[in-house]
Amino acid sequence: MGLPPPAGPVSARGARSSATGNPPFVSDKSSNSQWGGRYAEGPSAVMQAINASIGFDRKMWRQDIRGSLAHAAMLAHVGIISGDDEAAIRAGLESIAGEIERGEFPFSEALEDIHMNVEARLTERIGEAGKRLHTGRSRNDQVALDVRLWVRDAIDGLDAQIADCMRALVERAAEHAGTVMPGFTHLQPAQPTTLGHHLLAYTEMLSRDRGRLRDARVRMNESPLGAAALCGTGFPIDRHMTAAALGFDGPTRNSLDSVASRDYAIEFLAACAICATHLSRLAEELVIWTSPYFGFVRLSDAYTTGSSIMPQKRNPDAAELVRAKTGRIAGALVGLLTVMKGLPLTYGKDMQEDKEGLFDAAASLSLALAATAGMVRDLQPDVARLREAAGAGFSTATDLADWLVRELKLPFRDAHHVTGKLVAAAERRGLDLSGLSLEELRAEEPRIHDGVYGVLSVEASVASRTSFGGTAPANVAEAAALWTEQLRDTGENPA
Ligand code: ARG
Repeated sequence: MGLPPPAGPVSARGARSSATGNPPFVSDKSSNSQWGGRYAEGPSAVMQAINASIGFDRKMWRQDIRGSLAHAAMLAHVGIISGDDEAAIRAGLESIAGEIERGEFPFSEALEDIHMNVEARLTERIGEAGKRLHTGRSRNDQVALDVRLWVRDAIDGLDAQIADCMRALVERAAEHAGTVMPGFTHLQPAQPTTLGHHLLAYTEMLSRDRGRLRDARVRMNESPLGAAALCGTGFPIDRHMTAAALGFDGPTRNSLDSVASRDYAIEFLAACAICATHLSRLAEELVIWTSPYFGFVRLSDAYTTGSSIMPQKRNPDAAELVRAKTGRIAGALVGLLTVMKGLPLTYGKDMQEDKEGLFDAAASLSLALAATAGMVRDLQPDVARLREAAGAGFSTATDLADWLVRELKLPFRDAHHVTGKLVAAAERRGLDLSGLSLEELRAEEPRIHDGVYGVLSVEASVASRTSFGGTAPANVAEAAALWTEQLRDTGENPA
């Protein structure tokens, strides 16, 4: 966007947010009613446009009101405000919540942010008592609190969504524990595996993503409220009381750190970026697998689009977009790291730039998780095609080498060499390894006997890989059953 219009009441941010059904910003030429005591004039239009965050931080209105309710209850409890004032503040904030919910709240860009919008409205509605709410508090600890509460809520929502995505993967893995398919390294056929084993690999990744978000939640679960501007306050506030009321484990220990730090948001974004990276890999595989050149799986009309010009097309747009969303999520992480880098203590307005990336990353990951769970439930594997592909590319060559070691006691390096010669022979003749005659096999190693054919099929190959965590269908079925159990009801991680 270019420079904002010089005088118009609705800024670009306002225009964008008014599309949500909220009334446009109220234009205000006077100085800010919340801090304008020493100011004679209002800000320039550009100043207002660069300074205001209400266009995006209004998303935190629930957290802001929750925080204010806890703060007011504490102020009354310790006798800083009267019980009557607290009751008036509570009723006022509750009716403001209703206004915002109904889209009737008069958001004002001149009032900068969600904190001052709510507070000014409160005073407008209840008078004197509203002006007492900000005692022993600053916007610096208020915003630190709101962002923490918002991130915590986002973690809880994403945690449930990751669990659902894992359930989708486990359901399909149980169904396809024995469905053989090619396993790849370098995207070259490597060894046969099963579709169930492949899907459970993503279940493991998502389980660690959940763990990372939960770890971040534990670390961030301390309340900065009461750190005030930066040094704490002389009022006899009870930070333990507000911390407990807001579900925190306790108050943060250093007031400077409380208003200066956003590492919990960075950590959250890092966990989101890693999770999105995992989803992007599955999405990329769906793009590859649904290509007719692979033809491994089909996605239904529900998760694909047609082309306006090419009637035969069935494009995996949802998978492509999941793959692409990773860019903006990782971008939000790098963006916030860059905002925070080298920032002197304590609060700087720079930190207002934490929010848009944070909100966008959480919403993007939420959508990517929903789309992934949907596609996983939707996909229809072509079992015959997967079986055929699993046998291509001499995928059981390792099984042959292992057989030479086991049965003929060849050192593995020699077995590898002999097998390489046999692969070359089969390739020359346009055959699979199992297509070579005993005579042809013996040309490279005379002691080979017909027992070798028992390990050259893909079914024998996967069934033999029973080592812990291996691809054998029996292992996969057992792992899927464990996950099903662990993800039942509680949604708890196995660990
Ligand atoms: N809108 C601000 C932010 O998001 C709130 C804190 C403002 N504090 C201040 N001293 N100007 O960071």
